[in-house]
Amino acid sequence: MSEKFTGSFTQQEPIPEDAIEAALAVLRHGRLHRYNVAEGEAGETALLEQEFAAQTGAKYCLAVASGGYALATSLRAVGVKPGDKVLTNAFTLAPVPGSIASVGAEPVFVEVTESLTIDLDDLAAKADMAKVLMLSHMRGHLCDMDRLMEICDAAGITVIEDCAHTMGAAWNGVLSGRHGAVGCYSCQTYKHVNSGEGGLLVTDDEEIAARAIMMSGSYMLYGRHLAAPGPEVFERVKYETPNISGRMDNLRAAILRPQLRDLGTQAERWNGRYRAVEEGLRGTPGLTVVERPAQEVYVGSSIQFLLLDWSEEAVQEVVRRCGARGVELKWFGTPEPVAFTSRYDSWRYAETPRLPQSDRILAGIIDMRVPLTFSLEDCAQIARIIRAEVSAVYQSA
Ligand SMILES: Cc1ncc(COP(=O)(O)O)c(C=O)c1O
Repeated sequence: MSEKFTGSFTQQEPIPEDAIEAALAVLRHGRLHRYNVAEGEAGETALLEQEFAAQTGAKYCLAVASGGYALATSLRAVGVKPGDKVLTNAFTLAPVPGSIASVGAEPVFVEVTESLTIDLDDLAAKADMAKVLMLSHMRGHLCDMDRLMEICDAAGITVIEDCAHTMGAAWNGVLSGRHGAVGCYSCQTYKHVNSGEGGLLVTDDEEIAARAIMMSGSYMLYGRHLAAPGPEVFERVKYETPNISGRMDNLRAAILRPQLRDLGTQAERWNGRYRAVEEGLRGTPGLTVVERPAQEVYVGSSIQFLLLDWSEEAVQEVVRRCGARGVELKWFGTPEPVAFTSRYDSWRYAETPRLPQSDRILAGIIDMRVPLTFSLEDCAQIARIIRAEVSAVYQSA
């Protein structure tokens, strides 16, 4: 009898007890709205922003309703207008080009490499096509950020980092989200901290911060923020910045503050699991492990491997056989968007020429969640199952 995995790929850990206590305190006093505070009280949202700014070394921070809201707000705050073009990754997920489309702008997709990062040569070639790059650190893979910033600085491109999968990661000693003008994070259940929905935005630029705060619905109460620029900066932007409410509420902020304190420990636990799967897959004929560069500190909350240049049928057979043994794999080659997985040609609001290099790589990307509810033994078992099924299909091809 072949072994079968019985765990759930969508089951995250429970919310920690101290976060539950903090949430109950907010529920008991009832002041959930972001500006609803008692005399002398800062409020959970303002405190979360202050703490996340300190944690990332950013001057300013805004907590918002979702990662997608953080992305769209950043685009508006850096001055993207309807009709503008915005560079972004061909390998990413729907909220990223979606945020560009939501401000009336047009995504221009940049090819992906076999390292699953943005192709810097293609970026350099397209650098004159837009003034903003929405860089998605998709599935936690960081490109050579030093070279990327050189290309963008030389071309006068403003970089917004989508750190939905890289909260806690770093390149060459600099935290993800701190290379570009703005860093955007998601606190949605499948990310590195869990408030159901939620997002964070950090920047060192006072006008970007002031505009983002005004947009998030500050109702001229920006003086209550603890990670915001001074009133003179708001004076410059407050009459011309529209209100598009979306700041985080005190309940979700209360749940997040204790989790952010544990981020480092959680990242180590994720990486232990990631390495257990990776070790088990290494050396499987036909399967390419995505090697992580020495300059990269990553958080292995998911893992990807490549079945490069396999036929569609063979890849689908691997996904099917692993699924039958309880191992849920996602494939980026599927022509139709499936659940969270979609590809650049699924987003038909954008007119996109074919990207042959990305087509080849996307057709080989297999993606798997690694929730912390899995033990190291679970991860080893999952790798054994994948290895066996990949080998079986590869040998029969
Ligand atoms: C790569 C990427 N960027 C941005 C987001 C947006 O995050 P949220 O779901 O918090 O809007 C997601 C969410 O899945 C994502 O996967």
